[in-house]
Amino acid sequence: MKIIHSVNELTDQFMSWRKNDAPLALVPTMGNLHEGHLQLVRLAQATAQEVMVSIFVNPLQFGVGEDYQQYPRTLAADCEKLAALGVSFVFAPSVTDLYPQGENNSTRVMVPHLGELLCGMSRPQHFQGVTTIVCKLFNLIRPDYAIFGEKDYQQLTIIKQMVTDLYLPVSIISAPIVRESDGLALSSRNQYLTPEQRQYAPVLYQTLLETVARIEQGENNNLLLEQMAKERLKQANFEPDYVRICHPMTLVEANLQIDTSVRILAAAKLGRTRLIDNVALTR
Ligand code: PAJ
Repeated sequence: MKIIHSVNELTDQFMSWRKNDAPLALVPTMGNLHEGHLQLVRLAQATAQEVMVSIFVNPLQFGVGEDYQQYPRTLAADCEKLAALGVSFVFAPSVTDLYPQGENNSTRVMVPHLGELLCGMSRPQHFQGVTTIVCKLFNLIRPDYAIFGEKDYQQLTIIKQMVTDLYLPVSIISAPIVRESDGLALSSRNQYLTPEQRQYAPVLYQTLLETVARIEQGENNNLLLEQMAKERLKQANFEPDYVRICHPMTLVEANLQIDTSVRILAAAKLGRTRLIDNVALTR
């Protein structure tokens, strides 16, 4: 496995290798890899002959007071996991390498509207940071495929929109959410939870499943369903940000009398840790 540490190394060595024209799948990550990430890697390997995993904690997508400094950086352990899976390339550049003018002076890529809903309301610059870095990675690496998890469903939707709007020559492939046995979606941020908070954490997923069950029993009042879900979260010590029943592509509030397919998304804080989750429902 080759670990590429800079843009120069990438353009010098990797691009000459790429003349071989073997299909390449990219898995963009911020590292601290867990089974959710590794599942994306396996899907990448099933999709393309060569796989590159990028590991970069992107300062542009963290807001003021968020966990940029605290975010776990575990490159050596990550590389061991990827080598064991037989990944060909890891791209782990530095911040100054990807933002030579400083991240505040960098050109931005943003998807309006979709990026302002849901998580975009409480994290106003977040998705602009994500689309900017993902666009940079696509242009540098030129993958044929890029793999993203449904865990970050809004992120996935926004990236698909960016690729369509900018005619980027890459196919986006999505992978289902990997969960702990008690239902909690795997996330690098789960390690911030205290043992007590960890016990409550699966209530986020349970609440989404309860909402699905209510809809299947015939309840179609979004506001009522969302309100009940938030109450349930509060009972489990969460501070809910939103629970929203959405159209799966536009992410606007679904009409449960018409839409046969919906996505239910939620974000809530447990102490200082912000957790997100979502489920699909097709009737
Ligand atoms: P990160 O949080 O490291 O996630 C990298 C990829 O792993 C994302 O596509 C995410 O949806 C996926 N993922 C994380 N947990 C998962 C789980 N439990 N099940 C399935 N997939 C999971 O998302 C980012 O990094 C960044 O925003 C990035 C796209 C790399 C841009 O900086």
